[in-house]
Amino acid sequence: MSLPQSENQLEILLDAEKIQRRVKELGAEITAEYRGRPLHLIGILKGSWVFLADLIRALDLEVTVDFLGFTSYGDGQSSSGQVKITKDLDSSIEGLDVLVVEDILDTGHTFQYLRGLLSRRKPKSLKVVTLLDKPLRRINPVTADYVGFTIPDAFVVGYGLDFAQKFRGLPEVRVLHLTPEQLAEVRAPAPR
Ligand code: PRP
Repeated sequence: MSLPQSENQLEILLDAEKIQRRVKELGAEITAEYRGRPLHLIGILKGSWVFLADLIRALDLEVTVDFLGFTSYGDGQSSSGQVKITKDLDSSIEGLDVLVVEDILDTGHTFQYLRGLLSRRKPKSLKVVTLLDKPLRRINPVTADYVGFTIPDAFVVGYGLDFAQKFRGLPEVRVLHLTPEQLAEVRAPAPR
């Protein structure tokens, strides 16, 4: 599959300033909800780390952080054909107020799997913040507690999101225009 040669060939959906403004708003909203209570963030690798890095600086709370490595689309060019945990949590979440940090909520497969996995570890509370929500692609009827932006059914990259591991470092979110055949290849369903 051929890739765009430069970021100029990718259409901007959310510019850096708009993202930064919204992340600050989310930080204020989350701070108000958890005020006075320690909050344990769990970033889902790899896509969420750019968002998490900005969000944590927008929170006025006592915060700890852990990461869970999990992948649903293999290398971004074809389905991995299986759920893959690539890194488990470093410490127990029992009795903690946990906020899962995601870059995008798409079919909801990942979210549903994660919610089951983390609930069994007995956190005091479990909520999810996602920078991007694509409700038109939802298969599992799940919703995030905090949403940065609701976006159309387009393949997006940048601000942590990749295509075949590329474009994660773009400061904005851009649409990658793919042919229907390329999209079908990228989105080949993985068994859950
Ligand atoms: C993306 C994203 C979510 C998941 C959402 O991860 O980070 O975890 O897909 O999709 P879903 O709602 O359809 O399950 P991806 O598997 O692309 O891995 P990455 O974060 O390492 O790029």
